[in-house]
Amino acid sequence: MVAIDGFSSCGKSTLARELAKQLHYVFIDSGAMYRGITLYALRNNCVNGKELDRGKLIQELDHIQLSFRLNPETQKPELHLNGENVEHEIRTPKVASQVSQVATIKEVRAKLVDQQREMGKNGGVVMDGRDIGSVVFPNAELKLFITAEIETRVQRRYLELKEKGLNTDKEEVKANLLERDRIDSTRKESPLIQTEDAVVIDNTHLSRSEQLELALELVEKKIVTLA
Ligand code: DC
Repeated sequence: MVAIDGFSSCGKSTLARELAKQLHYVFIDSGAMYRGITLYALRNNCVNGKELDRGKLIQELDHIQLSFRLNPETQKPELHLNGENVEHEIRTPKVASQVSQVATIKEVRAKLVDQQREMGKNGGVVMDGRDIGSVVFPNAELKLFITAEIETRVQRRYLELKEKGLNTDKEEVKANLLERDRIDSTRKESPLIQTEDAVVIDNTHLSRSEQLELALELVEKKIVTLA
């Protein structure tokens, strides 16, 4: 088990996906699951204006079923919400603007953490998120904590949205990232923290392949020696 945590838009999922591929592990993007619940909340009147109706969403939780299915063309796992492929919709700014609020709800976290532990119980998984090394898999063989400078993250996120044809500006992207960082690190339930045993990677000046190389060396050191 490799646990990868860190702030929003630090390239955690990209690294997790590439690392899983190299190791022949399964990649699980836990943030997609919080986004899936947020999409459900938006579609089912649990958000009025910008206000999240926490009680209503908690009542609805039993009606929300999430699963990952491999897209045979791209070979990437995609999130399904009650059987519907929502991989594209969960990445919109609308979902991004609500997801951190949804992720503060204890009952939401309990449901998703249970499912994540079930998915990872046999090992051979690279999972990325905010609480993977601290709460979901505290005994992970390798824990990585990813950071990057804020301007770099804004630029990466902005280009990603633009590539998807989503219209936004950099100030808006920056405001959303900072707000998510704030909520994710200060919430009461499982806030984003850097555990003592995590290895920090600041990828501000690293290319994707340099970062992957570094992570593979750490796997070599920590996991292969353990095996
Ligand atoms: O990784 P991401 O940006 O797709 O995550 C979306 C939100 O979900 C993020 O703002 C915080 C929350 N999240 C969380 O609280 N715990 C996780 N393990 C993963 C994501």
